[in-house]
Amino acid sequence: MPVDRMGVRSLSCERFQTLTDEVRDRTDDVIVQQSPGGRARLSDGPVYATLILGPGTLTRAALPSGTPRSFAVRYFPVNMVENRSDTFDVGGEFTVRRLGFGAMRLTGEDIIGPPDDEEAAKDVLERAVDIGVDIVDTADSYGPGVSERLIGEALGDRDDVVVATKGGLLRNADSDWLPHGDPDYLRNAVLASLDRLRTDTIDLYQHHRPDPDTPFEDSVTALAELKDEGQIRQVGLSNVSVEQLDRAREIVDVATVQNEYNVGNRENEDVLQACQEYDIGFIPYFPLGAGDLGEKESVVDDVAAAHDATTQQIALAWLLEHSDVTLPIPGTSSVDHLEQNVAATEIDLTDEQYERLTE
Ligand SMILES: NC(=O)c1ccc[n+]([C@@H]2O[C@H](COP(=O)([O-])OP(=O)(O)OC[C@H]3O[C@@H](n4cnc5c(N)ncnc54)[C@H](OP(=O)(O)O)[C@@H]3O)[C@@H](O)[C@H]2O)c1
Repeated sequence: MPVDRMGVRSLSCERFQTLTDEVRDRTDDVIVQQSPGGRARLSDGPVYATLILGPGTLTRAALPSGTPRSFAVRYFPVNMVENRSDTFDVGGEFTVRRLGFGAMRLTGEDIIGPPDDEEAAKDVLERAVDIGVDIVDTADSYGPGVSERLIGEALGDRDDVVVATKGGLLRNADSDWLPHGDPDYLRNAVLASLDRLRTDTIDLYQHHRPDPDTPFEDSVTALAELKDEGQIRQVGLSNVSVEQLDRAREIVDVATVQNEYNVGNRENEDVLQACQEYDIGFIPYFPLGAGDLGEKESVVDDVAAAHDATTQQIALAWLLEHSDVTLPIPGTSSVDHLEQNVAATEIDLTDEQYERLTE
């Protein structure tokens, strides 16, 4: 039986060894995955095993008990990283894989102006979606406007990607972030975001930060009205306390909360716990600690070494393990880093590793 890349063949268990031998002889990398009818994502059937074969070496192979005597085989190039995180229903409306992408880094220095290479930035967005990322986070203040514009240009109004943007912060040339939660301003901001994102309704609109000069209820009410009018589908909050979350929930169904949180910084643990209790998505920003995981760095490094993984991958694996409602959005301007981050969804921490990282 010829071994075709990306091909699907039926074979029996007896043929399995021969097949792996055939694949082993190939010089280029392939993944062989068995399932009764293709990959789990393409069919409802279970996946029985995944074989990852490097050049000349079988690096992983197992046929678990329960594998039927006949099954289909599908081949994938080994570099086909895929988002394997489980899913979360955002606002009960959008089912997304929990590992997302943060598009703040696709801008110029200090998150002002365009990036050096806009095409490279769009490549990152396109690659993210290709490998199964289906929630992309941004904000009108990233650039300002630049990150949203690039998402609009690269992804357009795709049905299979949830774009989560934010409003309520102004920028200036000193790269300050200035809260502005005035309802009229938010209404204007949503119109501008709709244009840049090339859509007629925003999937998830997050209030970026409570404005001390505007009653919080007024800002949230504006978003509730925008939702009623259909310009936004779901409302999210960012940089809020549990008390503010509870006040907002009196006004509108809150789909997500986005606060700073990572393995090295648990200051918002109470907000995460509240989200878990209410079944609200918790989007931990700075999931990689923006490069600084503080005192946890050495434990994370230890666990990374045990998995032959990177520090960043373990930081993401921990966030995914820690709660069912986390939706980490690691930010990067590099396709390589993006792929590494998505590959973190393959990592299973042992109980002991999880405890060490958590304590
Ligand atoms: N709501 C808010 O107030 C708020 C505030 C900040 C951020 N955010 C959101 O959170 C998202 C994530 O935050 P963030 O991007 O600032 O921080 P982050 O995801 O914690 O870290 C990003 C940094 O890590 C690097 N990095 C990413 N993947 C890597 C990898 N695999 N190996 C090595 N380095 C890697 C990136 O550099 P490279 O580009 O070189 O990969 C970048 O410097 C943002 O995109 C934004 O959407 C929200």
